[in-house]
Amino acid sequence: LIGQKAQKEGYKAYAVGGFVRDLLLGVPNLDIDIVVEQDAISFAHKIVKYLGGEIKEYEKFGTATITLKDGRKIDFATARMEFYPFPAAMPEVEETTIKHDLYRRDFTINTLAFRLNSDRFGEFLDFFEGRKDLEQGNIKVLYNLSFVEDPTRIFRALRFESRYSFQMDEGTMSFLHNALENNVLQKLSGTRIMEQLQAIVSEPNPSVIFTRALELGIIDNIFGQCTKPQQLKKDLRKTVDSVQILQEKSIIEQKDVLLVYLLVLINSYPKKAFEIVLNDFNLEKGSRLIISNFFNGGLDRIERLKSSKHLDPSEIYDALNSLSIHCLCAMMALADSDLLKNRIFLYLEELQKVDVETTGNDLKKMGIEPGPIYSKIISRLRQQKLNGQIHTKDDELNYIKG
Ligand code: CTP
Repeated sequence: LIGQKAQKEGYKAYAVGGFVRDLLLGVPNLDIDIVVEQDAISFAHKIVKYLGGEIKEYEKFGTATITLKDGRKIDFATARMEFYPFPAAMPEVEETTIKHDLYRRDFTINTLAFRLNSDRFGEFLDFFEGRKDLEQGNIKVLYNLSFVEDPTRIFRALRFESRYSFQMDEGTMSFLHNALENNVLQKLSGTRIMEQLQAIVSEPNPSVIFTRALELGIIDNIFGQCTKPQQLKKDLRKTVDSVQILQEKSIIEQKDVLLVYLLVLINSYPKKAFEIVLNDFNLEKGSRLIISNFFNGGLDRIERLKSSKHLDPSEIYDALNSLSIHCLCAMMALADSDLLKNRIFLYLEELQKVDVETTGNDLKKMGIEPGPIYSKIISRLRQQKLNGQIHTKDDELNYIKG
C-alpha cells in the first residue's frame, strides 16, 4: 500500500535499516523504517490518511513517525545527501540519493533496502555487501571515522554482536580502538550515554555486553580505570541472575534494571565514577538519591547479614528495611555468599510484605493516646509477626492488651 501510494504520488520510497536486517534474519521487528527520496513528512501525511493512527513530525530532521492503532510504528526519513568520501565510483544518478543515505549509516548490515514503489516493488538494494556480512555475522563500519563521528555506534556494535552472536571485523575493531584512544566517549553527553546503557539493559543478556565493553576498555573510557575488573565480570554475571529471579517474582520491573547495573558498575570503579553518574548523567532526583544512599551507608547495612550466626527474621527486616529495590537487587548480585543472598531474597520475597493490620483507629478505640507510642507499638507488632509469634489481627490486638 505504501508502495502504491508512493508510485501514484511521485515519491520514491524504500524500506531500510533494522527492519530489512531483521526481515532477512527472520527476527521479528515491529518498527518499519522508510526512507523517501523527497519530502518524507508530506509523504507520511498522505500515508496516515490511508492507514489511520497518529503522526508526529520532526521538521528539523525531515522525519515523521506514524504510530498505528495496534502500536506498531512506521518511521519516515527524507534521504540525506551528506558528503562522504565514496570509496567506489559514483553510482548511476538514479540511485545516488538512496546510496548516499545508506552509506552514512552505522554498519553494513544496516544498509540493506527494499524498493517499495509498486513498479519495482521488492527490488533489493545491497550497495555495501551488507547481505554477505549478515550471512557471515560481521559487524562492519562503512568508513574509518564512523565511531568518531557518532560514538554511540560503539555501544550499538556491542549490542548487535550480542543480540545476533555476530562479531566486529578486524578493521572495525581497529577503528573502535582508535576512537577510544581519542577519548570519543568523553565527548558524549551523560544523557546520551544513559540512552545507550538503557538500550543495553533492554537486550536479552546485558552482562555479556557490559563484560565485552569492559574488556575493550569502553567502560574505563567513561569512568576511569576499573579497580577490580575480574570481580566486576563475576558481579555482572551474578547481576543477570539476580535480576532474572526478581523479575520472575515480579519484585522488580524492567524500568528498574538500569539502576541496578549502574550500582554494580560504580562499585568497581574509583569515586570519580560515582561523581560522574551523579553529576553528569542527568538522572532524576530519586535515582540520584538511591545511588547516593547505596554508597553512603547502604552497602554497610548488609555487614550484619554476612555473619553465619542465627538471625531472627525481624533482624533481617531491620537491616534491609527502607533500602530501595534497586539497592537490594544490586546487593544480591554483589553478595559473596549464598547465605547473604538468601537473606536478602527472603526479605524481598516474604518479610517486606508482612503487614501489621492494626490501625491508629484501633489503638484509639483501645484508649491509647495518639503519639510516638503508636509507631513503637506498630513496629513491635511487626517484629512479633515477622518472627511468627503472632499471625492474625486478633493476635495483634490481644498482644497489645497483654
Ligand atoms: N543508525 C546509525 N547510527 C546510529 C543510530 C542509527 O547509522 N547511531 C541507523 C542504522 O542504520 C539503523 C537506523 O539508523 O538501522 C535506525 O536506527 P534504530 O531504529 O535506532 O536502529 P535499529 O537498527 O532498528 O536498532 P534496534 O533494533 O536496536 O532498534
